[in-house]
Amino acid sequence: MNLGKNIPIKGGKIAIILGTRPEIIKMSPIVRACEKRKLDYFILHTGQHYSYEMDKKIFEDLEIKEPKYNLNVGGNEYRKQVGLMIREIMKVLAQEKPEAILVQGDTNSVLAGALAANKLGIKIGHHEAGLRSHDLTMLEETNRIITDHISDFLFAPTDDALQNLKDEGVADGKAVLTGNTVVDAVFQNLELAEKKSDILKALNLEDKNYILATAHRAENVDIEERLEGILEGLAFVANDFNLPIIYPVHPRTLNNIKKFGLEIPAGVRAIPPLGYLDFLQLESKANLIITDSGGLQEEACILKIPCVTIRDNTERPETLKSGANILAGTDPKKILSCSRKMAGTKKEWDNPFGDGRAGKRIVRFFQ
Ligand code: UD1
Ligand code: UDP
Repeated sequence: MNLGKNIPIKGGKIAIILGTRPEIIKMSPIVRACEKRKLDYFILHTGQHYSYEMDKKIFEDLEIKEPKYNLNVGGNEYRKQVGLMIREIMKVLAQEKPEAILVQGDTNSVLAGALAANKLGIKIGHHEAGLRSHDLTMLEETNRIITDHISDFLFAPTDDALQNLKDEGVADGKAVLTGNTVVDAVFQNLELAEKKSDILKALNLEDKNYILATAHRAENVDIEERLEGILEGLAFVANDFNLPIIYPVHPRTLNNIKKFGLEIPAGVRAIPPLGYLDFLQLESKANLIITDSGGLQEEACILKIPCVTIRDNTERPETLKSGANILAGTDPKKILSCSRKMAGTKKEWDNPFGDGRAGKRIVRFFQ
């Protein structure tokens, strides 16, 4: 099998398309590499995420230049959002005529960007290609599969992801192993976070004396029973560990907590979403991380903080194999037993997500 033979493409303008918090973070090393190599590129933001803490604050923390376009389509229901994104992205691409677009991950913005470019015959590069949860009830799984199958360049972060692309018969000539830019972002910002963030002091916390939690997956927080299970599980853990749980609440989750009339339990400190530097600082000093986030499963593994994933499956199986992560689902007792188990692990696993040079590696294919 001849991997990556269609890559590189030489010269030409690149459109970096993004729309949500994790895409801004994981695209930032690619943007930095484009700047360093003086490539002709621009950023197109769909506006899927738009609240200050989910969007502009992250750009500010990462010191990335403002997007050239913002389509402001956030907050709409699925069909309208994806439809509007495709229409508006196509307008921009038709006008800018880039040689290729780059997308990252599995969100609706990624799907819309890929479909728009595909329709216009513009080459598509997909970073974080090949991740699979094998759970087609997740919108993200459909987004990943469609995007991978219509992309021209597949940047697989891990061996497992590359193998998935081979198994689906889409790797030949297109796929390369690059590592994940999440490692680049952590390495590029950890020291800065240590210097600039005073979040531990602001929240009156001490190193390793708290647990960090997040939850935002639609399949968790849109279902009352599951969201209730998560909150109850956090209460059990806070009580059992006798440690506070710091919980920056995603806007989707906040809306649902209000809609279902649920309460944040004692021992859990709900706070607004944090900027990337404050959040990285909180992650790196946490005793344990409890989450349903994809990015957090990776970052916990990289930072050597044990992770409990409140999902029934994961598209990051490397974290399970390495011993850095465990699947707990949303049953409160299981969340507690998994937390106890992970708190007692030796933090000796390797980081399977690369060497922190994925951004540079990806950008080299475009010059
Ligand atoms: C999206 C992605 C998910 C990713 C997550 C990262 C899809 C299908 N889902 O989920 O894969 O893990 O982003 O955080 O693309 N909202 C705000 N302000 C914001 C953003 C959202 O108030 O800045 C509220 C709105 O009510 C919105 C809801 O949250 O309707 C859901 O936002 P949406 O972007 O549709 O999905 P996420 O849950 O953020
Ligand atoms: N993050 C952040 N502030 C927060 C919560 C998360 O900056 O309050 C960062 C986190 O470090 C990670 C990314 O956001 O890089 C994860 O985003 P999210 O969990 O929203 O999405 P997912 O990774 O699940 O797609």
